[in-house]
Parts: sequence; C-alpha cells; structure tokens
Amino acid sequence: MGLTVTLIQGGGAGLDQIPAVKEVVAAAGVDVTWDEHFAGWAAIEKGLPALPEAMLASIRKTRVALKTKLLPQPGEVGQVRKETGNLNVMLRRELGLFAAVRPLKNLPGLPARFQGVDMLVIREITEDMYSSIEHEIVPGVVQSIKVVTKAASERFLRFAFDYARLSKRKSIACVHKANILKLADGLFLEAFRAIAKENPEFQTREVIVDNCCMQMVSKPQQFDVLVMGNLYGDLVSDVAAGVVGGVSATHGINVGDGLMVYECFHGGGRDTIPEGRANPLPLILPATDLLHFHGHDEAATRILDAVGKVLTSREALTPDLGGKATTAEVTAAIVRAMG
Ligand code: IPM
Ligand code: MN
Repeated sequence: MGLTVTLIQGGGAGLDQIPAVKEVVAAAGVDVTWDEHFAGWAAIEKGLPALPEAMLASIRKTRVALKTKLLPQPGEVGQVRKETGNLNVMLRRELGLFAAVRPLKNLPGLPARFQGVDMLVIREITEDMYSSIEHEIVPGVVQSIKVVTKAASERFLRFAFDYARLSKRKSIACVHKANILKLADGLFLEAFRAIAKENPEFQTREVIVDNCCMQMVSKPQQFDVLVMGNLYGDLVSDVAAGVVGGVSATHGINVGDGLMVYECFHGGGRDTIPEGRANPLPLILPATDLLHFHGHDEAATRILDAVGKVLTSREALTPDLGGKATTAEVTAAIVRAMG
C-alpha cells in the first residue's frame, strides 16, 4: 500500500530541499503520495496564514509529515522584544507533539570533530522555558517562567524509555540542572528516577547540563541516549550536531499521539543560502527516518548508503561542505550512487 505524507515547505532553503527529497525517494522506488503545503514564510508570502488550516488538517489525517524549518517573515528575527511566537513551536503545540528524538551519529565520509559517535538526544517539547509565559513586572524587570509538570515529564520519559528499548539502546542519561533549579529540574529528575525503576534493564546516569556539554565536546562516544527538558535539549542537540559534522548529520523526529512529524530543524532564508544552493542532506536524513518507520527500511538504507558514497567521494557537495555543487547536482549524484 502506498504511503501518504504531508510535505511542508517553510521557506528559504527548504524550497531547494523539497524537490531533492522527492527525487531521491522516487529513485529509491518508494511510492509516496506527497500532500504538499506551504507554511511559515512560504505561506505568508502567498497571502496565507503562517499555519494554514488545510496543512494542519492534512497532518491530522495522514498522521505523518515531513517538514522544512518554518521561517518567519524576513527581518522579523532579531527585533528584540517584538518578535511574535516561533512558528515551529506553534506547530508543535497545535499538534500536541511532546517529544523530539534527534539521532546524532557520524555519517560515512562526513568530516567531523569526533568519530564513533552514535547517540540519541530525546527532548521534551511541550513545556519548560518554551511555555512562553513572560511578564514585564515593572519597566526594567521581567520574568520568564519555567514550567515543569509531573504529568508531562512522566509521559515524555515513558516514551523515551520505550523508544530507547525499540532502538536497542543500553544506557540513558538524564541531563538536568537540579543543583540550582531544585524544584523544576528536581521534579524532572524525580520523574526520571521513577520511570527508570519501571525499566530496570537500562543503565541510567544523571548528568548536570554544563558537565554534559563539556563531556560532549571531550568524549562524546560515552553517550548512548540522553533525555532532557526542552531548553537543554535545544542546546545539547546543537552541541552534539557540531560534534558529528553539523547540519548535514542532524534530523528530528517529533512525536505526538499517533502522529509523527519528521523535520529538518536547521535552514536559512535566501539572504544566507542562494537559490538552488541549499544542502539537501538535512531534509534527506529525516526522510530516511520516515521511510524506516513506515515500512520502507530497505529504501532508507539504500538512500543512506548512496549519501555515504557521495560524501566519501566528495563528487558533488554544496558550498557549506566545501564543494561547488548545486542542490540538483548533489541530488543527481545521490540518485546515481543508488545505482
Ligand atoms: C530546534 C529549533 C527550534 C527550537 C526553533 C526553530 C524554535 O532550534 O528545533 O532545535 O528552539 O526548538
Ligand atoms: Mn535548535
């Protein structure tokens, strides 16, 4: 049976990456019906709302989506104190996505600061500092509130342990700052200990977030699965991305109730990435996760092998990887490498 996937284009680099992914998936022989939608800047510039109803309805129907980063209107970023809510976060909220799995692993042929790294950063994505509860109490005094609940932490951690089991992982580290945030991070840590008790087959460890960052850039191979709240997860997953070779090696699997959104969570506007020059790999990787989890494991492996060949031969690489190739040339090289 064919697979129907909601495909979301969020503007900028994504415009190059989407055709690349469609071509590579078709060349791998998988029959996917792409239900294509615009969101973020790609929708706004067409006079549509940033999160069009039709796009949300499509995801609720197909239960599986692949998305590029949703960019805001150009010029909005950096408008201190005036920026509206982040569209990617609003989409997570709208769909009830509660966990983000980020596989961070060396890719064959991709230069990286360290080799032999293969870990999963699993991040809670509904609360913490991303609750967006902020007040200006009096001019010059603001409060940004960190929200942590037992219910969300336990639901997230149950998912993370289950995911670790399915992925045949052995050890799980909880990343926190409970030495300072005794209530908020203390509650998360307590939830971790409780869920760890229900899953005694895992080795568990507790790591304070600053130490985690140092360990990550000194000996990242020690980590298997790391679980943490929203903000630390954002920071640690980017540190880990830097460790394994940058945006080409990062991908995200966002999980809700019976709903999966695979995403490329990096990506710039046309001011930073000229037309036709975007690296397609940041969207090809989550597409292979999608194929892997939806019955097309063989095709996913074929694509990853081809990506490895192209990276190793350095035959066609985009400028961010030190090459001169266009998105279309990299795509063609991957398709050729699939044989
Ligand atoms: C990520 C991104 C997002 C986040 C941004 C785009 C809001 O950096 O998915 O890691 O902070 O979660
Ligand atoms: Mn991030």
